[in-house]
Amino acid sequence: MALVDTKKMFEMAYKNGYAVGAFNVNNMEITQGIVSAIAEEKAPLILQISRGARSYASMSYLRAIIDVAVAENPEIPICMHLDHGDTFETCKQCVDDGFTSVMIDASHYSFEENIAMTKKVVEYAHDHGVVVEAELGQLGGIEEDVVGLSHDDVMKHLTDPDQAVEFIEKTGCDSLAVACGTSHGAFKFKSEPKLALDVIDKIAAKLPGYPLVMHGSSSVLKEFKDLINKYGGDMPNAMGVPESAISEAVKKAVCKVNIDTDLRMALTAKIRQVFCEKPGEFDPRKYLAPGRDAIKDMVKHKLHVLGCAGKAAECM
Ligand code: G3H
Ligand code: 13P
Ligand code: ZN
Repeated sequence: MALVDTKKMFEMAYKNGYAVGAFNVNNMEITQGIVSAIAEEKAPLILQISRGARSYASMSYLRAIIDVAVAENPEIPICMHLDHGDTFETCKQCVDDGFTSVMIDASHYSFEENIAMTKKVVEYAHDHGVVVEAELGQLGGIEEDVVGLSHDDVMKHLTDPDQAVEFIEKTGCDSLAVACGTSHGAFKFKSEPKLALDVIDKIAAKLPGYPLVMHGSSSVLKEFKDLINKYGGDMPNAMGVPESAISEAVKKAVCKVNIDTDLRMALTAKIRQVFCEKPGEFDPRKYLAPGRDAIKDMVKHKLHVLGCAGKAAECM
C-alpha cells in the first residue's frame, strides 16, 4: 500500500475513542524501532518529519527509509507528515516532495495572520490531495528553534474554543493542534502535571467529529530517565505528561498524539548504558541496536496507551 493521508485514521480514531501515534523520525534506527512495533501491534502510523530532521538526514534518505517501511508493511496504513512547518514555502516543498499530510504552525503569529497563512497552505495542499494540520494557542518548551512558554504561561494561553471554531471555518484545516497544558521537550512541569482537558471537551461540543491533535505528549518514562541519570546524564528534573492523562484525552476528540522526546530518551539511555558498561565498545551497531530495541518496546507500550493497537485494518 502507498502512503496514506490521515482522513480515514482520524475518522475511525474519533469514532472508536483512540488516537494514532505520531512519532518523529530522524534516522534509520529510530524509524525501524517504531515500524517494527507497529507491525507487531497492527496499529496505524504517522511518521513525522521536522524541518530539523529534513536538514539532518536529508529528505531523500528519509523518504527512502519510509518507502521501505511502507513496502514491507502493506497491511499497515502509514502517513508521512511534516511536523511544525513554519512557512508556506516549507509546506509547499513537502507537498511537492510527496508528503501526505503537512502541518503549518503559525500559532506564534496573530490570530488573523495565523488564519491567512493556514488558509494559503490549505488551498495548495488540498489542490494536491494533501491534508493539513494547523495550530491555535501556544505550547511551552522548545520546538524547532522556537522557545515556547513556561508551564504557568502555557496555562494562560490555552486554545480558545470559540476562536477554534472560527479558525477552522475560515481556514478549512483538516485537524487542529490545541494548547491544553502540554509542552515540548523533557521538562514540561516543575511540580504537579496539570492538563486542561476541558479545552478539548469545549471544542468537541462545538464541533462534534472534528479531530484534535496533542503535541508535547511524551511522558518522560521513569525507566529511561533513571538510566540516563545513572549513566552520566543530567536530567534529574525531567517530567512529562502522565500516561493516564493521554489515555483520557484520546477517548475525547484527540485523534493524533505527538511523541518525540520519549524516543530520544529511549535511544540516549541505551547508548549511555553501553558506553558506561563497556567503555571499550566502538562498534556503532553494538550501541544503536539496544537503542532501537528500546524504542520498539516503548512504542509498543505507547500504542496500548493510545488505544490504537490492533486498529490498522479499520484505518485502511
Ligand atoms: O516539536 C518538535 C519536535 O520534537 C521535533 O524536534 O525540530 O529538534 O527535530 P526537532
Ligand atoms: P514531545 O517533546 O513531548 O515528544 O512532543 C513532540 C511533538 O509535539 C512534536 O511535534
Ligand atoms: Zn509539536
